Amino acid sequence: MIRVVLLGSGNVAYHLHRALHRSKGIELKQVIARRKEALSDFVPPVPFGIPGGPVAEADIYMIAVADGAIEAVAGLLGGKAGLVVHTSGARDLQALKGVSRPGVFYPLQTFSRLRELDFEDIPLCIETGRPEDLPLLRSLANALSKQVVELDLASRRRLHLAAVFVNNFSNHMVYLGEALCREAELPENLLRPLLRETYSKLETLTAYQSQTGPARRGDQITQEAHLDQLKDSLRRQLYQMISESIHQTYD
Ligand SMILES: NC(=O)c1ccc[n+]([C@@H]2O[C@H](COP(=O)([O-])OP(=O)(O)OC[C@H]3O[C@@H](n4cnc5c(N)ncnc54)[C@H](OP(=O)(O)O)[C@@H]3O)[C@@H](O)[C@H]2O)c1
Repeated sequence: MIRVVLLGSGNVAYHLHRALHRSKGIELKQVIARRKEALSDFVPPVPFGIPGGPVAEADIYMIAVADGAIEAVAGLLGGKAGLVVHTSGARDLQALKGVSRPGVFYPLQTFSRLRELDFEDIPLCIETGRPEDLPLLRSLANALSKQVVELDLASRRRLHLAAVFVNNFSNHMVYLGEALCREAELPENLLRPLLRETYSKLETLTAYQSQTGPARRGDQITQEAHLDQLKDSLRRQLYQMISESIHQTYD
């Protein structure tokens, strides 16, 4: 049994808690969070601790808090002998300075509390400061997911950057598209079949092959008509920059 203490109560901690709890080879010893209310939907109820209070003995301490809070939360673990990992794609092992056995456990997925996920399908990117700690972290990762990869900082950062384009930016584009409909009092659900097909065709075609639209076709008249409709200067700039990027991709 791998004994785990989880620190955090946000989106990632919520999903990690479910996965850790379900896994047969893992014993979840404690969840540490600033506010007990934030754990009210963690099912089943968990042994709870507060920052600064007693911390259970564990083989691995998993810190799933905001990137900027990792150092402070790691500071709660002084003197603990276990491996200490954070879940950030962007932060390095230095975020855990002062910890003798640091590591990273970065799950490459978008986590929202309101959306259930199958943790088994999530790629887990792992790294440890000491090579001898890798087998333990790999065992934990293998107990949770079918896809485990060892990645160094540069590769993880590149992957995180790619994930921002693939998920964060594309999601924001959907938000803006919905806003354009809402502002014209058009039903947003008219976009739903398009949205479904946008993602489902990527199962069989590459993104390069899937691209359509006026920028792909080089249709200037349509692009100018679109720009005329965009009164907000940031939206205009976005339209122009992304259209230019599409244009150059197929030039
Ligand atoms: N969400 C994703 O899709 C995703 C994917 C992969 C990796 N990650 C990484 O996973 C980590 C957690 O992300 P998240 O999405 O779960 O964040 P989140 O939902 O915003 O939750 C942030 C957590 O950090 C805690 N926190 C913030 N400041 C703190 C402080 N000064 N001291 C102690 N705790 C503090 C919050 O506690 P309170 O509730 O008390 O404020 C909360 O538990 C981040 O490193 C992130 O980069 C996120």
